[in-house]
Amino acid sequence: MAGPANKTATRAAAKPQAWKDLSAHHKKLRGVHLRELFHDDPQRGERLTLEAVGLYFDYSKNRITDETVDLLVRLARESGVPERIEAMFRGDKINLTEKRAVLHTALRAPRGASILVDGKDVVPEVHAVLDRMADFSRRVRTGEWKGHTGKRIRNVVNVGIGGSDLGPVMAYEALKHYSERSMTFRFVSNVDSTDFAEAVQDLDAAETLFIISSKTFTTLETMTNAETARAWCLAGLGNAEGAVAKHFVAVSTNAQAVAKFGIDAANMFEFWDWVGGRYSMSSAIGLSTMVAIGPEQFSDMLGGLHEMDEHFRTAPLERNLPVLMGLLAAWYNDFFGAETVAVLPYEQYLKRFPAYLQQLTMESNGKSVTLAGKPVAHKTGPIFWGEPGTNGQHSFYQLIHQGTRLIPCDFIAFAQPLNPRGRHHDMLVANVCAQAEALAFGKTAEQVKAQGTPEWLVPHRVFEGNRPSNVILGDRLTPAMLGKLVALYEHAVFTQGVLWNIDSFDQWGVELGKVLAQRIIPELENADSPLAHDSSTNRLIQYFRKGKGTA
Ligand code: F6P
Repeated sequence: MAGPANKTATRAAAKPQAWKDLSAHHKKLRGVHLRELFHDDPQRGERLTLEAVGLYFDYSKNRITDETVDLLVRLARESGVPERIEAMFRGDKINLTEKRAVLHTALRAPRGASILVDGKDVVPEVHAVLDRMADFSRRVRTGEWKGHTGKRIRNVVNVGIGGSDLGPVMAYEALKHYSERSMTFRFVSNVDSTDFAEAVQDLDAAETLFIISSKTFTTLETMTNAETARAWCLAGLGNAEGAVAKHFVAVSTNAQAVAKFGIDAANMFEFWDWVGGRYSMSSAIGLSTMVAIGPEQFSDMLGGLHEMDEHFRTAPLERNLPVLMGLLAAWYNDFFGAETVAVLPYEQYLKRFPAYLQQLTMESNGKSVTLAGKPVAHKTGPIFWGEPGTNGQHSFYQLIHQGTRLIPCDFIAFAQPLNPRGRHHDMLVANVCAQAEALAFGKTAEQVKAQGTPEWLVPHRVFEGNRPSNVILGDRLTPAMLGKLVALYEHAVFTQGVLWNIDSFDQWGVELGKVLAQRIIPELENADSPLAHDSSTNRLIQYFRKGKGTA
C-alpha cells in the first residue's frame, strides 16, 4: 500500500517526550487554584499576555505557569509544528488523504508574491480572480450590471452550504456595518425548502442575483436549491430566454458542472482544490462579501488575514498567537479532559462567528486516526460552541460558573463600538472583564458567609472559580480585524492537528450519511420500492411514507 505522500507531513511514530512531561506537570498543577497562581505571581496578568498584529491576548487566567508554557512550546517543537507550518506555506501536499496542498494562505498573499503548487506559481491566478471579482462587484454595486428586464440588482442571494455558506454569512453579518445598505443580502443553505422560500418571499426576481457557491458543484443541498432558484427566477421573469445569464453567477472549482447547469464561463469565479471548503472565505467564495462591502474593504480583510498568516509563519512559538491558542486548547482537551471550548464574542456583529468556527474546528479536527491511519493516542478536536455576550450570560453561563464541567472560554471584545450609544459599550466591556474575573477567582464560602448569607444557602452561592479563559481584545471590528480573527483560529486549529498528528484538512466523516441519503430519497419518493435497511430505518421510512399519504 502506498505510504504518506511526503515526509514533512508526518512525524516519527514515537510519542514526543513532552506529552509525558506535561502529564507529570499536570498532576502537580491540577489541584492549584488560579487564586493561588495570582497570589504567588501578582504580575502574571501583565506577563502572560501577548500583543501582536493589533490584537491583545491575555492568557494569564489559564491554569498554567511559566513551566507549563515552556513544556507546551516544547510539545509544539517535538511534534514538528515549525516544520509543518513551513510545509503548509510552501505548498507541500500536507492534506495526505486527498493528496492536496493546503494553501488558503496563498489566497491572501500580496500581488507579486510567489507560491508554487506542482511547479506552478498560483499567486498570479489568485489575483486574476480577485480582479474579476472586483470588477463584477463594482458593476453590481453601481448598477452597471443589469438584470434581464434592465432593472438594477438590489438583492444578492448566496446559495451554498458548509464552507460555501458559513464563511460568507458570518462575514456578511460581521461586516454589515461596512456593507452597502441599499442592497439586500440573503443566504440559502438548507435543503429544507423553507430556507429558500423565506429567503426570497419578499424579493423581485428582476432585481435578484444568485451566487451559486460550491467547491464541487455536486452538493445535494446546493444543487437542489440552485435548481429551485432557477425555476423561481424564470417564473418571475416569464421564462425569458437569457435570464439565467443575468441573474446567476457561480463560484466553483468545477467548470464543467457549472457549464452543465447553464451558467456561462464568463460568469464563473474560480478557485482551486488546494483551498479547503472551510478555509475558503478568502477565495471567490467570498464574492457575496465583496459585493456587500466593496473590493477595497474586501482587500483590507485579506490584508488582515495575511498579517496573521505572516505572524504565524514567522513569530517564535512562545510569542505566536495561533500556536499559543492551539496549545492552550490542547492543554485542557488532553490533560484536564475538557470536552468543549466556548467562544464568546462581546460584539453583536460576530453573532455567527461561533457557528462558523464549528465547521472550521470540528470538521478539521474531529478525527480518530493519525496521518498514518493508526488510532490516535489522544482525544482530538473539542466541541466548539458559543453565543454573543451578554446574551449568553442569561442562559448558559450558569453551567460554566457552577456546573460540574470544565469549559475553557475565549472572550472576544473591542475597545471601540461601531454603533456608540450612551453607556452601552462600557457596560458591554465591563461584562467581559467581570465574567473572566468571576470565572477565574470565583467566590469562597467565607466571602459568601461574610455577606450574611444563611448557612443553608451558602453552598448554592459559592463560586468555585478556577475556570480558565482567554481574553482577545482589538481596537475595533473592521474588515482587517475580522481577517485577523479568522486566520487566528484557522492556524490554532492547524497547530492542534499537528499535535495530534491528524489530517486537519480532509472530512471523510461527512460521506457515509450523504451516500445513505441518496439511497433513501427514491425510497421515500416511491412507496412501492422494497426496503432492506435495519428494522429501525425501515420503520422510520414507512412512517414518513404514511405521513405524506403514499403508504
Ligand atoms: O459536507 C461537507 C462539505 O464537503 C464541506 O467540507 C464543504 O464546505 C461543504 O460540504 C460544501 O461543499 P461544496 O462547496 O463542494 O458544495
